Amino acid sequence: MQNFTFISPTKIIFGKDTESLLGNEVKQYSSNVLLCYGGGSIKKTGVYDKVINSLKHSNVNYTELSGIRPNPRLSLVYQGIKLCRENNINFIIGVGGGSVIDTAKAIAVGVPYNGDVWDFYTGKQEVTKALPVGDILTIPATGTEASNSSVITNEQGLFKKGINSDLIRPVFSILNPELTFTLPAYQTACGACDMMAHIMERYFTNEPNVDLTDRLSEAALKTIINNTPLVLKNPKDYNARAEIMWAGTLAHNGLMGTGRVEDWASHKIEHELSAIYDIAHGAGLSIIFPAWMRYVYKHNIKRFVQFAVRVWDVNLSFDNEEAIALEGIRRITEFFKSIGLPVTLTDAGISQDRIEEMADKCTASDTNTLGNFVTLHKQDIINIYKMAK
Ligand code: NZQ
Ligand code: ZN
Repeated sequence: MQNFTFISPTKIIFGKDTESLLGNEVKQYSSNVLLCYGGGSIKKTGVYDKVINSLKHSNVNYTELSGIRPNPRLSLVYQGIKLCRENNINFIIGVGGGSVIDTAKAIAVGVPYNGDVWDFYTGKQEVTKALPVGDILTIPATGTEASNSSVITNEQGLFKKGINSDLIRPVFSILNPELTFTLPAYQTACGACDMMAHIMERYFTNEPNVDLTDRLSEAALKTIINNTPLVLKNPKDYNARAEIMWAGTLAHNGLMGTGRVEDWASHKIEHELSAIYDIAHGAGLSIIFPAWMRYVYKHNIKRFVQFAVRVWDVNLSFDNEEAIALEGIRRITEFFKSIGLPVTLTDAGISQDRIEEMADKCTASDTNTLGNFVTLHKQDIINIYKMAK
């Protein structure tokens, strides 16, 4: 096991009706906030009214920033920064999914910075200050409710880039599984795939002595695999929604990565797809992750055998490791298909004509490599996109 520092400071408030606690929580930090939300689902579902009532009840003044779309854009981040500066706002609330909360985090680092907030996303500048962020999560998927990341797309050139800083972990996150009853089946499935991917980016490591986090990862994966079909069948199954929601947070708060080197190639390869083609992040991952697995499994076949046996209950003759590993990869691919996700570029209606460009972008013209399980160069990434066709 490698040395590590683990920090997970986000206060998680989990369960039925917890959204009504928002005002009380916020009040401990500020009485003048920016309220960020997306394209209107929170109005349709009634969450908006509850949020406003809770803020009013606690005498918290709010300014709204609405219309944040999936694969959130930089232009709205600029708007949010401006609103905060004009109105002396010192706390940001996100009510929604990863796109909304990531925008809230971007605004939080942008307000105290004199330059262009995009500098953080290009790596030109380190985050040293951020306003506090709190949220109500309405889609379990990205784990942003406890993660140190924010991912934003710059419309100029369609660059989708992320930042990592402990300063942007939300101070509190409110998770009521009832708020996820209204999620369309496709978004539910995309969320399940994304959280599985967060666990697998950590699971596929070359560090051999990480038994505890292997077992935690396997348990979380199995929980998602078992409960996703239940909620697709019955979207109002509270207990299944609750299992998925909590798994999504633990998948990406850093716990599963303790003591090991993480990979993250599949995410970077996927981000190029959702940047250019504007597909849901989870749907990009259901295409890329199985292709990545087929490309790298020989590098550490024992890890893929463990994955197949412990997560997918593969029960083949132990003398044929390759067959076991491949069966595990086949089962995850079939699982993604069974919950309605694309598993090839063709399934998502994506042609192959921009593969070179995407590989070029995520390796900065072959000057960077991706991944740690196996180091990938530009040509490897082209090969993976081609395997995903
Ligand atoms: O915009 P509204 O109208 O609210 O509709 C949203 C949106 O269309 C809808 N929705 C959300 N909650 C709902 C609901 N519809 C009905 N009922 C509800 N309860 O769902 C759609 C998708 O929302 P979005 O926020 O885009 O989804 P998600 O949470 O999957 O976020 C994806 C973004 O997060 C990034 C992704 O790359 C992508 O940009 N990620 C962020 C990470 C992080 N910060 O740690 C890590 C991830 O790996 C990921 O990269
Ligand atoms: Zn993800």
